[in-house]
Amino acid sequence: MYLRVIGEVKHRNLENIFKSLRKIFSMRKKEFEKIYSGASMKQVREDLKQLVDFQKKGMSIESISQMFEERLIPHLMKYDNSGFLSMFNTTIEKGAKLGADLALDYNQGVTDWYVSPGGAVLEEMCIEEVIKLFELGSEADGTFMYSGTYANQEALYLALHKKAEQEGFDFAQKGIKGFEKPEKLLVLISQDAHFSLKHAVRMIGLGEENLRKLAVDENRRIDVAKMQKQVEDIQSANDIFCIVATTGTTSTGSIDPVLPIAKICEKTNSWLHVDGAYGLAYSLIPKYKARFSGIELADSITWDPHKQFGVPIPNSILFVRRKEDFHRMALHSGYLYRKGEDKPSPGLKSPPSTRPFSALPLVSSILYLGLDGIIERLSSPLDAVAELYQKLQKDSEIELCNIPETGILCFRLKNESMNQSKLNSYQQRIYDEVNKDGKFSISLTKLDDRSVLRLVAIAPTTVETLMKSIEYVKEKAKQIIDQGV
Ligand SMILES: Cc1ncc(COP(=O)(O)O)c(C=O)c1O
Repeated sequence: MYLRVIGEVKHRNLENIFKSLRKIFSMRKKEFEKIYSGASMKQVREDLKQLVDFQKKGMSIESISQMFEERLIPHLMKYDNSGFLSMFNTTIEKGAKLGADLALDYNQGVTDWYVSPGGAVLEEMCIEEVIKLFELGSEADGTFMYSGTYANQEALYLALHKKAEQEGFDFAQKGIKGFEKPEKLLVLISQDAHFSLKHAVRMIGLGEENLRKLAVDENRRIDVAKMQKQVEDIQSANDIFCIVATTGTTSTGSIDPVLPIAKICEKTNSWLHVDGAYGLAYSLIPKYKARFSGIELADSITWDPHKQFGVPIPNSILFVRRKEDFHRMALHSGYLYRKGEDKPSPGLKSPPSTRPFSALPLVSSILYLGLDGIIERLSSPLDAVAELYQKLQKDSEIELCNIPETGILCFRLKNESMNQSKLNSYQQRIYDEVNKDGKFSISLTKLDDRSVLRLVAIAPTTVETLMKSIEYVKEKAKQIIDQGV
């Protein structure tokens, strides 16, 4: 096939060559049995050396493609392999690809009307419709962001703007020094919140000392009763300006109870941020909706369509409850976003002025799958994980470490003769062995002082497929025991 393309190079225009090369790559992708080559880091470096051996003279597209095919692609993760169960990554959904290709062909920057009239208007319209899908209220607004990390950061930034306004100064001008005692400003997060919130407080000029961790219950959701007590204890000597609930924690997919947390926010006059980077999508499934009760009360919400929606990275959204929340941070300039213009300027709602056309793949994916198709796509891995949990409850070799609320199951391989520390190293060894040869990919995380194996189902799958990875994990565990741990 490859030689045929080279043969055709002389007779076809560039577009056709690209089409053929894309075809080879997609054919090759399906031939892979492994998730990735399983090569060592040293081997990968060796293979990639040629890719960065820059020369004065350029190479032909065909030679570059061949080099990529031979040297790079084997070492890339094949997210469409059913054994990939470690992270929140997915391959591109067919409808999303149509939009992504178009966005790429026109390389649209979605800054404002003048940079891309269609892009700017589509982003605004897409946000309006997605707000309706999540039922976030008629006053809500949103913006596409580079990632969930930046969405979380901007949420805290906006919370500070509002706090400053309540204190009677302009945060945009004075920054953190406008607060009388910035060291007293607190953000409350779950002990299982994503580490991006640590980045967020650092990047807004506070620090990790301004974060307080909230205890979790037996299924790793913020424990509201304990939270109330914690808030009472710290409130008098501090200034809680923001509380973060996570709807779908990274380690276990647990959903914090947003409604009672919203009530605490009301009492403490603090901004409620919901980090739904991973989990918010599941609120679209009717039978899961009640678990997300209260999200409409959030001042801001992070959502990552680039997780389970199958849209290309980057694709994240920050929603706010009231449009004016974005106005406080707006930065007008002489050449972009001139004051008084009534044209759409999505770039006024997030710092970068060069912004990707993230709305288009999301729009084309929703058009292609339809809302029913989306619910089906989202439900499949959750149903499979729920079934897996039921099955494994009867398995004497496995200790289950969470009751899955979404698509994540944490577990450990039991061993009666091991103490906690040995059990932790045992899980680590199993993890290393399972991931080593590139046939299956699971992850390892920490729940308090326990190392646990973590299986993430993000793409449509079945319980039978998930069981294959469990069998493989057990096989590796047995080998480790047979060799003597
Ligand atoms: C709950 C949660 N919040 C935030 C993030 C960060 O999102 P991103 O990877 O898009 O920066 C993640 C990533 O996995 C996450 O799970």
